[in-house]
Amino acid sequence: MDLCVKNRDTDFDRIRAAAPEKEPARQQYFIEADRAYFTAEFERALATGEALSRYGKECLENLQKNGRIGTANVVTFGCQMNARDSEKLLGILEEIGFQEWESEEADFVLYNTCTVRDNANQKVYGRLGYLRTMKRKHPRMLIGLCGCMMQESAVIEKIRKSYSHVDLIFGTHNIFKLAEILFERIAQGNMVVDIWESAKEIVEDLPIERKYPFKSGVNIMFGCNNFCSYCIVPYVRGRERSREPEEILEEIRRLAADGVIEVMLLGQNVNSYGKNLREPISFAALLRRVSEIEGIRRIRFMTSHPKDLSEELIEVMRDCDKVCAHLHLPLQSGSSRILKKMNRKYTKEDYLSLVERIRAAVPDISLTTDIIVGFPGETEEDFQETLDVIRRVRFDSAFTFQYSIRQGTPAATMEQVAEDVVKERFDRLLKEVQQIAGEVCSRHTGTVQGALVESLDDHLDGYVTGRLENNTIVHFPGDQTLIGSIVQVYLEESRGFYYMGRVADKESLEK
Ligand code: SAH
Ligand code: SF4
Ligand code: F3S
Repeated sequence: MDLCVKNRDTDFDRIRAAAPEKEPARQQYFIEADRAYFTAEFERALATGEALSRYGKECLENLQKNGRIGTANVVTFGCQMNARDSEKLLGILEEIGFQEWESEEADFVLYNTCTVRDNANQKVYGRLGYLRTMKRKHPRMLIGLCGCMMQESAVIEKIRKSYSHVDLIFGTHNIFKLAEILFERIAQGNMVVDIWESAKEIVEDLPIERKYPFKSGVNIMFGCNNFCSYCIVPYVRGRERSREPEEILEEIRRLAADGVIEVMLLGQNVNSYGKNLREPISFAALLRRVSEIEGIRRIRFMTSHPKDLSEELIEVMRDCDKVCAHLHLPLQSGSSRILKKMNRKYTKEDYLSLVERIRAAVPDISLTTDIIVGFPGETEEDFQETLDVIRRVRFDSAFTFQYSIRQGTPAATMEQVAEDVVKERFDRLLKEVQQIAGEVCSRHTGTVQGALVESLDDHLDGYVTGRLENNTIVHFPGDQTLIGSIVQVYLEESRGFYYMGRVADKESLEK
């Protein structure tokens, strides 16, 4: 099949008509088609000097030397799920021939958006304004938007009206279609919008560009069925769908063969994994099977909903060395009254008793959480209940959020708490959380712990940054060669939320 474009309209029609129906072959086909198109564009730019004002001759020649046909910048907003999606998007773009670019001075800029709180949306609008100025100077650049925010019709309307410089828009259910949507944009010459209401299929086996060679996220499920009354995620990510265990295990085996030693199993509520599969399997059972994979040395997961956390999972965390001694267990509120209005399906007492059982099984576990302040109807007494849980559990860290109205969710129409009250409670909560975390996090000072070295230290020359099993960061002297390995580190000094250490010598190992 000749994918070359000579006569614009007829050639595009011909190429489209010859595309295979089945996935992932269809996307592979459009990857080729895009590559043919952008290669021709790139060669034209090289020959005519067009775009030189933007990149300079040197940059273009560098791209040519690397066999690349342009630059692509993927910006991720939001959670780990989005970060994993971005790796898939980048994988497709690199396969087309783009080179990953760190700044928005790129041929293709793609924002993978989040809409969990309003400030996430505002950030995107702000940056789109900036891209408008850039596109005026460089009309040939392409701008794409995808992710959770795009699943809201009000957002699409606003972008169509006020941000017409955007070239392509797609949602959370069809990210695997990036190559085809990009092709449509080229073929049609104006904005392409392709949003699916729900997921039709889970397409596997497309290229992925991992951010780290030694650790990786792995989706085990998509969507959410919980409908917490404040949360927009079930509306923009759709109903809960678990991947088949064999698909997951195969992916992890491949990752292990590729040098990955740490995996993070991802889902909005991993504790309900597998319940709706044809052959149901529990999350705990999945964890056990993952832990049997040779080469994988650390297993993490997020997020755990307290209502579904089973005794079986607690046992696996206790018995399985590879499962990290860290649990992110969102509390949201310490008031049983508010938890009920939030539709969380547990009480303050349930949460505290769960923490007790977990700590009895894994005494040294690090617990982290999410808390929302100012949920509709929250009184000072309710807030005191939250502080009470914070003081009793003593979390290693807590992500604290001011409640943000999400249109279409039940809480949006409930009576709201005044902004200044929310702000004041938030400040009080943050202070408390930080003080406790500072005390709790230092508990391993003077011990030796394994640290997976992730990078050279950003601030200190001759240092590297590693992550302990319990997710705390440690900085210690070391070089590039340590990156990706687990090193035994003596934790010399706690600085609140991180440690300073040194590679353990024989003496400290014996302590
Ligand atoms: N599935 C995860 C959470 C995903 S969203 C869970 O159930 O724990 C991440 C966090 O964002 C939530 O835990 C919650 O604390 C916060 N969040 C969600 N919706 C919010 C809203 N409308 N306003 C403020 N914070 C919110
Ligand atoms: Fe949102 Fe609740 Fe689902 Fe988490 S469990 S994504 S907070 S609805
Ligand atoms: Fe945001 Fe979507 Fe994640 S709304 S928090 S990116 S699931």
